[in-house]
Amino acid sequence: MAFDPKFLDELRQRLPMPGLVGRHVKLVRSGRYWKGCCPFHGEKTPSFYVYDDHFHCYGCGAHGDAISYVMQSEGRSFNEAIQELAALAGLEIPEQISHQKTSSQQPGLYEVLAAAQEYYSQQLDTPKGRIGREYFLKRGISEQTIKKFQLGWSGDGRGGLISYLKGKGFTENLIAAAGLLRRLNDDQWGGELFFNRVTFPICDRRGRVIAFGGRILGDGQPKYLNSPETPLFSKRKILFGFNHLSAISTHKTTDPRYHTLLVVEGYMDVIALHQAGFIGAVAPLGTALTLDQMELLWRIDDRPTICFDGDAAGRRAMLHAAEEALPVLTPEHSLQFIRLPEGEDPDSLIQKEGKEAFLELIRSRHSFSEVLYELLAESMIDHSPEQKAALKNKLFSAAAKIQDRNLAKEYRKTLFDQFYAQFYPKNNWIDNNWINKRNFQQEKKTTYQPFVRPNLTRQQVNYERMCILTAMLVYCPNIIPDVEDAFCRLDLPSDLTNIREVLLELPNTEDYKEVFNFFLGKGLTAKLDKLLNQYSLRIIGEKLVSFSPQEVEKQWWHFYGLFNIEALEKQVIQARKNWEKYPDESHQRTFLARVKALSSVRKGEIEDQENENFL
Ligand code: UTP
Ligand code: MN
Repeated sequence: MAFDPKFLDELRQRLPMPGLVGRHVKLVRSGRYWKGCCPFHGEKTPSFYVYDDHFHCYGCGAHGDAISYVMQSEGRSFNEAIQELAALAGLEIPEQISHQKTSSQQPGLYEVLAAAQEYYSQQLDTPKGRIGREYFLKRGISEQTIKKFQLGWSGDGRGGLISYLKGKGFTENLIAAAGLLRRLNDDQWGGELFFNRVTFPICDRRGRVIAFGGRILGDGQPKYLNSPETPLFSKRKILFGFNHLSAISTHKTTDPRYHTLLVVEGYMDVIALHQAGFIGAVAPLGTALTLDQMELLWRIDDRPTICFDGDAAGRRAMLHAAEEALPVLTPEHSLQFIRLPEGEDPDSLIQKEGKEAFLELIRSRHSFSEVLYELLAESMIDHSPEQKAALKNKLFSAAAKIQDRNLAKEYRKTLFDQFYAQFYPKNNWIDNNWINKRNFQQEKKTTYQPFVRPNLTRQQVNYERMCILTAMLVYCPNIIPDVEDAFCRLDLPSDLTNIREVLLELPNTEDYKEVFNFFLGKGLTAKLDKLLNQYSLRIIGEKLVSFSPQEVEKQWWHFYGLFNIEALEKQVIQARKNWEKYPDESHQRTFLARVKALSSVRKGEIEDQENENFL
């Protein structure tokens, strides 16, 4: 190539591999070499060996020197890798020996790639290539989709592609420059890069083939192989599927499948989504989503939707994309996120649950700030003061990365609001539910809909409900005679039983201030205060006193029914009998209050049961 071999040797000598690799991978010394987890394929036990002058992975076969390490791990071209390494080593790059043009003008590259694509497509129909077609069909890919994505079969790598291309008049140099041959070292080429793999052409925006991806049929490593960087192909600037996007803005329906720009992790995800009608799916090429790629996306959609795999790697990739985007976030350009169930990727989810399920995920996707908070909060080990403070620091610096000043301020506020809502909730949930509904939607039947508070246990919720039932009687003592029987049977926690005893001894009154005085007289004010200082009960109580006794009674039965619907049903039957026996207004009122409460508990029942999973 264009560099003096002596210069390249010096570069390698000055930059021992362990130091270079150690920037990305945690290495442990083991005699003559260093060992770590391979950065080129996901693994948990280290099979990546680093020597002074080269590296080798016994898991996936990745192998090379300092230059190819930088090329492979950072997706750099040969020239870029040299620039980076020279800067690290503090070496001047000498005059290049020859000034061959290596940049995009090299003629024939598109043509040779188009011919290779032709070859790979044809292979799918040969007897030997049939396994490729069968592989796709087995994975649920239709003939039509195979055509749309021009999927192919590489052949067995014994020179079939090379002789096909040579037969069309392409030189070996050109075939190599197009990235179709294995590189042995700086200026030597081996056989075909892709063999025994199904092939996925990677296209530029105009649909011209600029590179390939290839997947092994079984479980071998590496699972996917991509073309190297070439003058036409820079994997950090291209998105798989981008050439199919022209359709997404022109569709006239409102179906989100046709309008949602989706960024997924893998080739197969893009293909499965397109086949299910989600025609806005694209994927980066095995690297993290880069800023260049985000810029491409923002030309099409102000808020593309990121949907990475539901596993640890997917979550890391999401957080990485979010952190990368923060500095360039503006009020106009943001991202949205779909969070997939654990263990699923878009392809597997659609296979298992169907496209409706995926559509639902699109409809309920999350905003950038919400997911950023979640991802940062998920990294907490526990809820100790140290961890909470560490999270606050992270939230603070995440918001500070945003260059748009107003947006940075809003993010800081939103992220911290989420922090306080998670760790120091205001317990205003009753207000949010029935009290507010009663005030603002007088005509609508109020149903209590507990919202999801994942960090409360069922016991905690029941405790909270018992506190509410007790406090309601403190503020509205006039309903005590009507609920007394049920209230006595409640299995209250010990700190509430004393209060109950006092309430049951209470002289007839409608005024809660008298109730307070009564507690004062008994020397039990502290106990009462302790109860009322929880769950905003004072505020709720003070609102309650303006309600009619019937309304209060209904709400009381409602809460009662929430943790014991059978008991409430019995109460209804009993009250009906009483009313039949004594058909006066007071018995009618008692009956109606219980019936209404029962019916609203039943209406809210479904949500309540669902929420039980979270409690
Ligand atoms: P995945 O392994 O999640 O891909 O890697 P996938 O599409 O779900 O694969 P299937 O369903 O098992 O066939 C996501 C992407 O990461 C890159 C590829 O671009 C792949 O589509 N990748 C993965 C590689 O470049 N090399 C690999 O060895 C593995
Ligand atoms: Mn996947």
